[in-house]
Amino acid sequence: MSLFGMPSIDLLSNQIAAVLDDPATTHGLARALRAVAKEIELHRHHHTSQRAWPNGRINQKPSKVQIGGGSHHIDGFFNIDAVPPADLLWDIREGIPLQDDSVELFFSEHFLEHIDYPRSAKNYIREAQRVLVPGGQIITGVPDAAFALSQYPGPLNACDEMIERWYAKRDCRSDINTRLDLVNLVFRDQDDDPKYTPHLWAYDHEKLAQLFTEAGFTAVAPWTFDSTIANPKRRWGSLYVIATK
Ligand SMILES: C[S@@+](CC[C@H](N)C(=O)[O-])C[C@H]1O[C@@H](n2cnc3c(N)ncnc32)[C@H](O)[C@@H]1O
Repeated sequence: MSLFGMPSIDLLSNQIAAVLDDPATTHGLARALRAVAKEIELHRHHHTSQRAWPNGRINQKPSKVQIGGGSHHIDGFFNIDAVPPADLLWDIREGIPLQDDSVELFFSEHFLEHIDYPRSAKNYIREAQRVLVPGGQIITGVPDAAFALSQYPGPLNACDEMIERWYAKRDCRSDINTRLDLVNLVFRDQDDDPKYTPHLWAYDHEKLAQLFTEAGFTAVAPWTFDSTIANPKRRWGSLYVIATK
C-alpha cells in the first residue's frame, strides 16, 4: 500500500496515465511507459485469477488446452491467455496453473515468440512437460523465421507477397518498404499500436526441436496444418511442430 491508502500499482497506473497525457512527454519515455501500462494490465488480470487459486493450481482438469489463443476459439479446448477473452486469465510467464500429468494436448500458435527467451520460453516448455500426461502432445506454431530469411536477398515481388499477407492490416504497413524491413519485423516486431506485443525471439524448426528435446520430450516432428484447430490466417508463413512427452 502507498502512503495515501491506494494500492501502489493503482497509484503507479494513475501516474503513468498522467505522464502519457502530458504533451511534453518525450516519444521514448511514452513508449517505455506504454509497455509498463500493458504489463500492469496483465499483472492485474493475473493477480485476480491468482487470488482465486492461491496455490497456483486451478480445480478444472481440462484435457485439451490452448495457450495464447486470443479471440481464436477452438471447440473442446480450454483457452488460457493473459488478456480477455479466455477461459482463464493467467500470465504464462508465471507457470501453467494445471495439475501434473493432467493434459493430453496443448496447442499454441503465434504465442511463443511473444514471451522472453530464455527465461519464460524455457519455463513454459518445462511447465507443459510437467502438466502433460505420459504420451501427451504439444503443438506449437510460430512465424517461420527460416522462411523469412530465405526471402533475403531475393526477388522483391516474393517479399511483397509476404509483406501483404502478414502486415497489410497493420498500422506500420506503410513503413515496411524493403526486404530487410520484413526481416526486422519478424525478429523484432515493434509496432507502436498498443494492441500488439513485440516479437521477443525468432524460431525455426531446429530451435523448436532443441527446446522440446532439452525439456525432456521424446519426439519432435513437423505438424501438418489442420484448420479445424489452427487459425486459418496463420497457414501461410508459419512453422508448426508437435512434440510428444
Ligand atoms: C499474436 S496473438 C495470437 C493469437 C492467436 N493464437 C492467433 O494465432 O490468432 C498472441 C497471444 O498471446 C497472448 N499472450 C502473450 N503473452 C502472454 C502471456 N505472458 N501469457 C498468456 N498469454 C499471452 C496474447 O494475449 C495474445 O492473445
